[in-house]
Amino acid sequence: MAASEAVFDPELLPGQLPLPLDWALIFGRRAPLGVEIGSGGGRFVIGEAERHPEMDWLGIETAGHYFYTMKERVAKRRLPNLKVVRTDGADLVASCFPDASVNTYHIYFPDPWPKARHHKRRLIKPAFVRQLNRTLAPDGVLYFATDHRGYCEEAEPILRAELDVTPHPDPWPDAPRGRTNFEAKYMIAGRPIYRFIARRRA
Ligand SMILES: C[S@@+](CC[C@H](N)C(=O)[O-])C[C@H]1O[C@@H](n2cnc3c(N)ncnc32)[C@H](O)[C@@H]1O
Repeated sequence: MAASEAVFDPELLPGQLPLPLDWALIFGRRAPLGVEIGSGGGRFVIGEAERHPEMDWLGIETAGHYFYTMKERVAKRRLPNLKVVRTDGADLVASCFPDASVNTYHIYFPDPWPKARHHKRRLIKPAFVRQLNRTLAPDGVLYFATDHRGYCEEAEPILRAELDVTPHPDPWPDAPRGRTNFEAKYMIAGRPIYRFIARRRA
């Protein structure tokens, strides 16, 4: 099986490709890379891959029902610049991503785990943000959005510890134009959305 198919196959990653991952081998070319963690049904990452064929895209989703919906949608479109994988995004970044190799990270509406005893399950944690910083290209950017004020208040200082963070009102000026499913739903409902753009420090 070709490396690009291997990455498309949820059963094969991580474990069967040489590490750290070689994006040029996976996508068959060298191009700027965008990574979405928690892609849900894939609306955002598929749209970005269509709008930006000059970039390569990786959508990471851990939940089976979302992942298989996304995989079906991706398969119909046959976009050579988009791969999707079912796994834990934090683990994948930490254990498989090379240094300074991601141009844009996209984390939109991560599960807020609202109960205090579940906060430890939240994605944005210091060790994970250190890995984002390690793997971001020098001019790399993380786009982050949540509708959960408590999560926003917890995430901001954790991001700030590693990255230069700018809060952004909607619509954010230089951010991707596509909306995620949750974003579209929450915008219609008129819910406040808290957004950050975080860059690597010079
Ligand atoms: C609230 S949904 C938001 C989905 C999408 N980003 C959107 O805005 O429509 C959060 C998604 O993140 C996924 N997720 C949670 N933790 C994850 C992790 N560690 N790695 C990859 N996906 C994760 C969940 O399964 C879920 O699909």
